[in-house]
Amino acid sequence: LLPPFEDNFGRKHTYLRIALTEKCNLRCLYCMPAEGVPLTPKPHLLTVDEIIRIVEVFAAHGMDKIRLTGGEPSVRKDFTDIVRRIKAVEGVTQIGVTTNGIAIGKRLHELKEAGLSQMNISLDSLNPEKYMMITRTNGFKKVMETINNAEGIFDSVKVNVVVMKNVNDMEICDFIEMTKDRNLSVRFIEFMPFGGNKFTLNKFFSFKDMWKRVEERFGDRISRLVDTPNDTTKAFRIRGYQGEFGFITSMTEHFCSTCNRVRVTADGNLKVCLHGNNEVSLRDVMRSGASNEELSETIAKAVKRKKKQHAGVENLQHLKNRPMILIGG
Ligand code: GTP
Ligand code: 5AD
Ligand code: SF4
Repeated sequence: LLPPFEDNFGRKHTYLRIALTEKCNLRCLYCMPAEGVPLTPKPHLLTVDEIIRIVEVFAAHGMDKIRLTGGEPSVRKDFTDIVRRIKAVEGVTQIGVTTNGIAIGKRLHELKEAGLSQMNISLDSLNPEKYMMITRTNGFKKVMETINNAEGIFDSVKVNVVVMKNVNDMEICDFIEMTKDRNLSVRFIEFMPFGGNKFTLNKFFSFKDMWKRVEERFGDRISRLVDTPNDTTKAFRIRGYQGEFGFITSMTEHFCSTCNRVRVTADGNLKVCLHGNNEVSLRDVMRSGASNEELSETIAKAVKRKKKQHAGVENLQHLKNRPMILIGG
């Protein structure tokens, strides 16, 4: 095994998030502008062979966890094949996907069989009309179905809720009730600013605000769970409930000191931080005929430039970054 990609703050990067596509079958308010985003022409996107090569290079350096993102990864016809090929790479032990749950439902069993172990599903409202307002699409029933089925199939199923003030903040406790009889984890995510997502502070609902709601309702029935290393989530359970819930407090209590993630976009750029716009094209390096050693070196150098927290930016609202749909979360 080669040494891990380590930055100047001692963080070892063993978790790779790869965006498989820029396309999505939803139009969520917080992720992309209503008119959509200009898509990268196909020849400039990574091929499956290039994706696998990147995975192999990372795995040779100790990366063991992969998360497939997008866009919506399941809009790809070859999605299951990609999972299978990644599973065959030595060293990869966990493969997750982050999905909106709309079109992936038919493929749950084949994905499990191909090696997918973790499924994170986005669902921002339990009210079908509100769901439609947030996603600009009518798909609530399908997502609920996917969540219900996934629970029996994968080792871990998480529901992601991006909380926005006066949009869905009043639904937090209803989401927690979902964990009563189901073995899932519901996570409340602080709304983050990205290119084109019209982030405003009056839509922001902080962890503290969320906590007030939860404490009022559940009080001393709440128990704190032990966090797993490098987790983004503070996790809790209501005593007697099967599932758990948690908070991803990226804005008010960031978790950068334990960050072990790097990202590769669908067009092949390495992003060493979610918020960093200092990207390096692995695609161009590969297409110029570089060896795996040279590819490793490019990655190692980029990781060394990683900033201590939030890409070194004081106020993320002023940062010029890609829209979320072109990053993958
Ligand atoms: P697992 O821990 O593998 O289950 O995944 P995750 O929670 O990291 O990934 P997921 O794609 O479900 O993302 C949930 C939320 O966490 C999204 O809003 C992401 O943008 C955010 N997130 C994921 N990774 C990071 C990170 O490294 N930094 C920050 N600031 N936010 C992150
Ligand atoms: N702020 C916080 N989370 C976001 N996501 C997408 N856009 C944002 C944002 N602006 C979430 C999605 C998905 C995950 C990849 O990131 O809901 O669950
Ligand atoms: Fe890692 Fe950047 Fe996220 Fe901090 S903001 S946890 S450094 S990706």
